[in-house]
Amino acid sequence: MLSERMNEALNVQANRELYSSYLYLSMSYYFRSTGFGGFAGWMRVQAGEELVHTMKLLDYIAASGGRAKMLAVEAPQQSWESPQQAFQHVWDHERAVTRMIHELVAVAESESDAATRGFLQWYVDEQVEEEESSDDVLKRVLAAGSDPGALKAADEELGKRGFRFPRGFQMFP
Ligand code: FEO
Repeated sequence: MLSERMNEALNVQANRELYSSYLYLSMSYYFRSTGFGGFAGWMRVQAGEELVHTMKLLDYIAASGGRAKMLAVEAPQQSWESPQQAFQHVWDHERAVTRMIHELVAVAESESDAATRGFLQWYVDEQVEEEESSDDVLKRVLAAGSDPGALKAADEELGKRGFRFPRGFQMFP
């Protein structure tokens, strides 16, 4: 059974994950409108992953006897000055999300909620991967600079990203 404080903190994190999905969708359509179909595809996969992160939290709240609530989602930024600026934003955003996950872990620990602490380890590990991949992608795009040929090659490369559901997660149970 979740404490009220734990329920609330998990719910707020679900809202932040949904905001992340919305932010990456915004970047996806920004790239689509600027002719970078590969970057748009990469962001679309990223947005899908964030939706899964949202639902995984809400599923956990529901399965633990809590109440999953849908909170208002803030409108994200709509455009960026360059692909580099957008990917820098991804990197900064993921670092901020890591801090939020660590704060959530601290709440679980202060509530002596071992089950939620165990559940959150998936998010702790996921953030290590998220930071690594957003760092790799940022470096890739920064290296391309403003050279159209190099940017086109980066766009094609990033467009190959595929989507995988996390093990055990069912989108349509
Ligand atoms: Fe779900 Fe990218 O943090």
